[in-house]
Amino acid sequence: PAGRHVLKICRAEACQSMGGETLADGLRAALGLDWHETTADGRLTLEPVYCLGLCSCAPAAMLDDALYGRLDEATLRDVVAEAGQ
Ligand code: FES
Repeated sequence: PAGRHVLKICRAEACQSMGGETLADGLRAALGLDWHETTADGRLTLEPVYCLGLCSCAPAAMLDDALYGRLDEATLRDVVAEAGQ
């Protein structure tokens, strides 16, 4: 079952070229999750997505219904923190 929040990280070309994969790898390592997996507390599920229409603001992600662009390690961490409990 999916977690209470779903974080979709874009793995399409524009985001890849802007370091999206490295960013996603770092987050996956930090959370101990692979794609499609959910944290043990059921808080967050990590899903890949292939373009969110935010290519000009790559790398991009979507937490539940909210879009985020120009992510770096710190802002992605903030996005994850927004998933709260
Ligand atoms: S390639 Fe990532 S938003 Fe389009």
